[in-house]
Amino acid sequence: MKTRPSKSTLLPSFLVGCAALAVGACQRDGAAPAAVATPITSTSASTSSSPADLVARGEYLIRIAGCNDCHTAGYAEAQGKTDKSQWLTGSPLGYKGPWGTTYAANLRQTLAAMDEAQWLDYSAKLRTRPIMPDFAVRAMSVEDRRALYHFIKSLGPGGGPAPGYLPPGQPPPAPYFELMLPGPPPATAAVPAAAMPGT
Ligand code: HEC
Repeated sequence: MKTRPSKSTLLPSFLVGCAALAVGACQRDGAAPAAVATPITSTSASTSSSPADLVARGEYLIRIAGCNDCHTAGYAEAQGKTDKSQWLTGSPLGYKGPWGTTYAANLRQTLAAMDEAQWLDYSAKLRTRPIMPDFAVRAMSVEDRRALYHFIKSLGPGGGPAPGYLPPGQPPPAPYFELMLPGPPPATAAVPAAAMPGT
């Protein structure tokens, strides 16, 4: 169990956040001071979230950001009803494309080897092969990435490793998705719009 960060370390980032957004933006829609203290809308409250708040928010983010779609085997087929004990344990479903074949990793194992500071650094710079939307993780706020960390850690290091990456030209075993991507644009010009029927 992690101890709560002290107020003094949190205050500056809150002040910077408010200064950047301007006071009007921090209290947009004329929110009453009481509303400013709610976890989701307030910068000050989110930076002082308790570990329990972070776990709950992390679960919510994982659920809505689609991480389970790829990182939890059978999640889409089960309409998202897969038991949490199975979440994020990786998947044997391959994604084959010009990059070779990739497999969604067991994130519980990935995070088991990291402390929070390591995860924040790693996730801010995350670069993976396709089909992982690494840009989506990089675009998340520090608080959201902290929430992912606390939630995934709360699940514990379950499951085994996902299959290893296969380079281009190495056929994967089923099951896998194969992505046929458009080739380079043709050398000849496209039909002009004026010559198209109905224009
Ligand atoms: C469309 C499928 C897909 C979605 C959606 C997806 N991932 Fe991934 N993810 C992958 C694949 C495939 C890899 C392996 C990429 C590689 O081999 O380089 C991966 C790798 C990762 C890695 C690197 C892990 C490691 O040990 O190498 C992290 C971290 C990660 N994903 C986090 C997330 C998070 C957080 C979300 C939700 C915001 C998410 N992913 C959504 C498919 C997906």
